Amino acid sequence: MLKNNGKTVISVSCTACLCLLLLLVAVQHHRVQVDEQNTGDGDAGARSLLQDGAPEQLGSAQDKKGFSAYFTKLTRGRREVDKPARSSESRADPPPAEDISADDIFIAVKTTKKFHQSRLNLLLDTWISRNVQQTYIFTDGEDEELKKKIGAHAINTNCSAAHSRQALSCKMAVEYDKFIESRKKWFCHVDDDNYVNVRTLVKHLSQYPHTQDMYIGKPSLDRPIEATERLGDNKMKPVNFWFATGGAGFCVSRGLALKMSPWASGGHFMNTAEKIRLPDDCTIGYIIESVLAVPLTRSNLFHSHLENLQQVSRSEIHKQITLSYGMFENKSNIINLKGAFPVEEDPSRFKSVHCLLYPDTPWCPPQVAF
Ligand SMILES: *[C@@H]1O[C@H](CO)[C@@H](O)[C@H](O)[C@H]1NC(C)=O
Ligand SMILES: *[C@@H]1O[C@H](CO)[C@@H](O)[C@H](O)[C@H]1NC(C)=O
Repeated sequence: MLKNNGKTVISVSCTACLCLLLLLVAVQHHRVQVDEQNTGDGDAGARSLLQDGAPEQLGSAQDKKGFSAYFTKLTRGRREVDKPARSSESRADPPPAEDISADDIFIAVKTTKKFHQSRLNLLLDTWISRNVQQTYIFTDGEDEELKKKIGAHAINTNCSAAHSRQALSCKMAVEYDKFIESRKKWFCHVDDDNYVNVRTLVKHLSQYPHTQDMYIGKPSLDRPIEATERLGDNKMKPVNFWFATGGAGFCVSRGLALKMSPWASGGHFMNTAEKIRLPDDCTIGYIIESVLAVPLTRSNLFHSHLENLQQVSRSEIHKQITLSYGMFENKSNIINLKGAFPVEEDPSRFKSVHCLLYPDTPWCPPQVAF
């Protein structure tokens, strides 16, 4: 399982890790195929770590076991990962460190032109409609319809539409620069398959002063990623760091973002990403954890489509910061919510979530008993 082809080195030190890793490989293996037709940008980091190492025979062996069996295992592994976060979050509503509002947050949504219809419109109709002032869409093509809806908040990055490491880093670089320009207090990045509960996000971030070094999100692996830093002169240095998976969304305080500038601003982000040859979300983790030595603050209120979304407790949906949806072997991986709309009308469940959070929305059915 040790692989050193000049990109990523994966070493496995215990059987428990190996088990989770193999499961992740299997899930990733399928996901990459699914991504081509349907789901999108999320979790680039985990994919990069695993994409070259997915053994074919493992994929087919896992086929027989089916979706729920190995998502259950995956979740069991993740539960271990989540333990430290859980204890810190069980504190009942800690007092706010700072009185912030939604206007203090810069929410960057990463998308690509081919998903403007299928994914972005759903977000524009739901959570973005309530948060237009703080939301910016980073895409890779011109779209007059989109411009009509959100004007200058639709940002054509001019990055390639390919799902390559370089293209993803190119978009993150533009997101970073636009955030710095915005003078807002918090930078939050999400993907185009995330629902953001902005009220909960504001409440969560207000626990921390934005001038402090804060990097908040959910790690997608159960241990730090091991990468190789290129130092020039053909010298290499192994580095270990945690990163928050981009597919679940993450936030960085302005205080920390300013310190990232030498590695992130202007063209530097792309150079940094090339130096470690990892995608955008890993590169953010590298700059923060490895270069600046600021630890990731874990939160299990962020959710990507790579986790089993059925595990999000039905009664706690309104407490989550981000949600997601996806397809896995023709089955949808969605949260379990008996809401305003049936699954056929609302396959992602985002419309139902939106009516739960904002029942006064004109298109929400009146007086729905959940
Ligand atoms: C993309 O290119 C257009 C046209 O050249 C330019 O107006 C725009 O500012 C560019 N976008 C970014 C983010 O640089
Ligand atoms: C998914 O559904 C399509 C069309 O219904 C079918 O062709 C394909 O074989 C299915 N894939 C899996 C993994 O079940």
